[in-house]
Amino acid sequence: MRLVGIVYLLYFYGLDVVPADMVFDPITFMKGLISPNRKRSSNAKFNPDVILNTLEMIRRAGYPAEAHVIMTEDGYLLTLHRIPGRNDSVPVLLQHGLLGSSADWVILGKGKALVYLLADQGYDVWLGNFRGNTYSRAHISLSPSNSTFWDFSFNELGIYDLPAMITFITNMRSQPLHTYIGHSMGTTTFYVMASERPEIARMVQMMISLAPTAFVSHMQSPIRFLVPFWKGLKRMVQFFFHGEFLPSDFVRLLAKYGCTHGFTKNICANIIFTIFGYDYKQFNYALEPVIVSHDPAGTSVKMIAHYVQALQTGKFRKYDYGHAKNLLIYHSVEPPSYKLANITVPIALLYSANDWLISIEDVRRLYHLLPNVVDMYEVSWPKFNHVDFLWAKDAPKLVYERVLKIMKRENLNITSNVT
Ligand SMILES: *[C@@H]1O[C@H](CO)[C@@H](O)[C@H](O)[C@H]1NC(C)=O
Ligand SMILES: *[C@@H]1O[C@H](CO)[C@@H](O)[C@H](O)[C@H]1NC(C)=O
Ligand SMILES: *[C@@H]1O[C@H](CO)[C@@H](O)[C@H](O)[C@H]1NC(C)=O
Ligand SMILES: *[C@@H]1O[C@H](CO)[C@@H](O)[C@H](O)[C@H]1NC(C)=O
Repeated sequence: MRLVGIVYLLYFYGLDVVPADMVFDPITFMKGLISPNRKRSSNAKFNPDVILNTLEMIRRAGYPAEAHVIMTEDGYLLTLHRIPGRNDSVPVLLQHGLLGSSADWVILGKGKALVYLLADQGYDVWLGNFRGNTYSRAHISLSPSNSTFWDFSFNELGIYDLPAMITFITNMRSQPLHTYIGHSMGTTTFYVMASERPEIARMVQMMISLAPTAFVSHMQSPIRFLVPFWKGLKRMVQFFFHGEFLPSDFVRLLAKYGCTHGFTKNICANIIFTIFGYDYKQFNYALEPVIVSHDPAGTSVKMIAHYVQALQTGKFRKYDYGHAKNLLIYHSVEPPSYKLANITVPIALLYSANDWLISIEDVRRLYHLLPNVVDMYEVSWPKFNHVDFLWAKDAPKLVYERVLKIMKRENLNITSNVT
């Protein structure tokens, strides 16, 4: 326990001394002491993406970009970003993860980010923004300063936000969605949608899950040590921020000063590694200022609470309000589980061994419950972590090549050694 304490203290000195497996290694430790900034000396160049929004970043990369504001059945106003293809192109929708936004898909840059590879292949690329994030902080009658605005979890994102986006795109293009690609919470919400709104799921021809997130009980990330403190934390956050979790302007201001100044940059990288898994080789330090200027992008306290419930119970089910309120809402004491067995959309599961949020055990459990898995693929880089799906130097080679293949309906086969 004391060793863990010392290791954490070292983060706050920004020393790059924590070896990849969280095993204390005195040689790496000494190296870190002698040259704490050894990895970061070469990138002083300013990246304009730090101050640009998603649309501006796309245009700077030389692609056309559009924004469409749509309304959900319960009144939220969501922004869809788009890189329009030719009129004979087929639409694909990319959906970001927890505390993310459409910017996450763009940060890796021209020639590398999945959005540009898809656009180059002639797809009509749509990027969603869930309620509460930077681009979707609006409602027809509720203000974000009213706590009712933040009364949602991934359940509402699945039953309202995704149906609004998918119907808008398929109506506009008069054709089904060719592929839905989700990362992390972008997959959770899809599973919710497909089990609760099968009429919407029928408008989607295929779904690709990057870091598939339904079960989270085998989470390795040290953030699980915060769970016992969650009740108190939740009350405090609720009190100060009206139900919004990590208000993005506030946190990004901290990050901007903490993560852009030489020595302290290490702290940010180490926080990212501590939450998502260590992968020094794939982390592009030059993108760090861009990442922290776009993330976190805002979500609700209830969202985190719902994931905490999933972690504690090991179940993928609706929000637990406590016995009395559950009876009123669900007509049962326990919240009902989402019906994964009812999902008929073909689904590909792409996961990695060093994802500290989603363990392989949890992915396997999901695999056995989904009736129509068309690809089960473990990224071949053993240190690949949760956010490497978006920002790794070699994401194009390690992941996106596979994604494009799956979309062409090529080589679809299940890894036979899945147990
Ligand atoms: C694309 O749409 C434009 C305008 O609606 C039309 O003039 C053009 O012929 C279309 N091209 C194809 C390949 O359908
Ligand atoms: C928040 O919105 C609800 C529903 O419109 C309303 O009843 C309530 O008075 C609002 N609260 C505040 C503090 O404005
Ligand atoms: C899908 O859900 C319905 C309603 O809950 C249920 O009756 C049906 O058996 C389910 N179908 C499958 C294939 O699980
Ligand atoms: C599965 O796909 C791989 C390529 O991704 C191919 O090499 C292999 O032969 C395929 N296996 C089967 C059984 O089709």
